[in-house]
Amino acid sequence: MALSAAAANEAASAGALERLVDATRPGMERVNAMILDRARSHVELVPEIARYLIDAGGKRLRPMLTIASSLLFGRLNGSEVNFAAAVEFLHNATLLHDDVVDESSMRRGRAAARMKWGNQASVLVGDFLLGQAFMMMVETGSIPALEVISKAATVIAEGEVLQLSKTRDLTATAEDYNDVIRAKTAMLFEAATEVGAMAGGADAAGRRAMREYGRELGYAFQLVDDVLDFRGEAGTLGKNTGDDLREGKMTLPIITTLGVASPAERELIVSVLGNARTGAADIAAVVAVLDRHGALDRTLEQASTHARHAREALKSLPPSEMKALLGDVAEFTVMRAY
Ligand code: IPE
Ligand code: IPE
Ligand code: MG
Ligand code: MG
Repeated sequence: MALSAAAANEAASAGALERLVDATRPGMERVNAMILDRARSHVELVPEIARYLIDAGGKRLRPMLTIASSLLFGRLNGSEVNFAAAVEFLHNATLLHDDVVDESSMRRGRAAARMKWGNQASVLVGDFLLGQAFMMMVETGSIPALEVISKAATVIAEGEVLQLSKTRDLTATAEDYNDVIRAKTAMLFEAATEVGAMAGGADAAGRRAMREYGRELGYAFQLVDDVLDFRGEAGTLGKNTGDDLREGKMTLPIITTLGVASPAERELIVSVLGNARTGAADIAAVVAVLDRHGALDRTLEQASTHARHAREALKSLPPSEMKALLGDVAEFTVMRAY
């Protein structure tokens, strides 16, 4: 019995992204139109770079979650479209900035914008998108929602700086890692679902539930993303694998393995961490060490726990198809690692 329930769960979560796309289609059509409209500028280089990133797509997971969260409560007034577009602009701004910070060369299956136009233009267009995100929030007149997004923008930046300060820090702990991913990733997911709930007319308890849902989903998403950096395929991910190691990022699999590794294993990890010239063979050797200690599987288990918490966060809400779908979406974030 338990096995078939698990199998049914797996099947439901496997199609969850497609079902989310279907369930949010009319709202997302308006969001996508607004995104294109707000990427315009009389300074030609701005839309050129912005559209380069936007047209590459991405999963649009966060704005879909905003729209889905608004539909869950259902009393829509159109502000959900601005909120969702603002969330995606904020996300895209952080990607432009993040690729500069991480010196990444690939994003959404293309050369990163910084490889074509340089770091300076990437940072500035990121700032433009950030400004436009706030303009879209202001237009709705909702100061409480503006507060949620402003707070998210601040905390994301703090998370990126905290991570930077822990680069190649062999004393970094699992708690440090948690603080980093809560800030740099979970914060935007929780803002996305909270403003969606607000647009849908949720009461305080509904808002709280959706905030918690987004946060837990965000944790799961980043834990999986960090496993995929070791195990994933660049072609599927649209970004290079092994980059976290080359950048010296202290992600959970590395932190936990350093705590139990033999001296020789530790030496290998240390020699590769933050070494930009590290090749595929060295990365594979580190992955073998991580697997020997079960670190990647344990990280995925932790992601599953967060996904389960995300589903549980919805418990107090009345049953609906959208609620069931959001529960499955949380599990999809983990399934994409398999
Ligand atoms: C990338 O997010 C940044 C992380 C938090 C890992 P996504 O994987 O959602 O990126 P896109 O928008 O689909 O490209
Ligand atoms: C993701 O950072 C979070 C932000 C962009 C703020 P990462 O550096 O971990 O994500 P990728 O791997 O570049 O997408
Ligand atoms: Mg990065
Ligand atoms: Mg980064």
